[in-house]
Amino acid sequence: MKVVIATNNKNKVKEFKSILNNENIEFLTLNEIGYHKEIIEDGNSFEENSLIKARQVSKDLGCIAIADDSGLEVYALNMAPGIYSARYSKSGLDEDNNNLLIKNLKGIKDRRARYVCAITIAYPDGKILSQTEYCYGLIIDEKRGKNGFGYDPYFYFEDLDKTFAEISLEEKNKYSHRAKALRKIKELINEDFSIK
Ligand code: IMP
Repeated sequence: MKVVIATNNKNKVKEFKSILNNENIEFLTLNEIGYHKEIIEDGNSFEENSLIKARQVSKDLGCIAIADDSGLEVYALNMAPGIYSARYSKSGLDEDNNNLLIKNLKGIKDRRARYVCAITIAYPDGKILSQTEYCYGLIIDEKRGKNGFGYDPYFYFEDLDKTFAEISLEEKNKYSHRAKALRKIKELINEDFSIK
């Protein structure tokens, strides 16, 4: 069975493939399948945006499509950057996004934050499965670690006393918002994917 992962973000693809990993499924990214049509993510929530992506790809290709929409919510910033996490700064580069985040948190003691991930699977017959999960942490001022992507060097995870950039992908897959949502989705689609 072919399943299209509706993203070209290499880091996300790695996380998707390592968790959903199943010998009966061939996972293909949008690049791999040659799908280059623009997807306009104009939803008002993570859930809406992941639905938009999965539904469009599934309809256009007539296959099962899985999409996520994720981001960082910071309590002291009224849950910003939220759905705008990827384009928080003008350039949208990780370094600029992080610098802006730290600047906006200057002098603020409350550093509570959470990563959010909404995952949607769209089937060609219109069936939809979705799941949202969270991962809680604190934003620190000095970056730590070289792994991961996005806000990971500044996202301190108390349970491990490390940032998400200081842990391996295997460890991140135990705790991350995306990993938790993917595991729940995997349970939901057990039958369709013939996972024993
Ligand atoms: P999306 O591709 O529209 O879902 O945007 C997600 C954005 O949120 C990314 O570009 C990152 O800035 C941030 N983000 C989401 N998940 C993670 C993560 O696991 N680590 C670090 N940043 C993340």
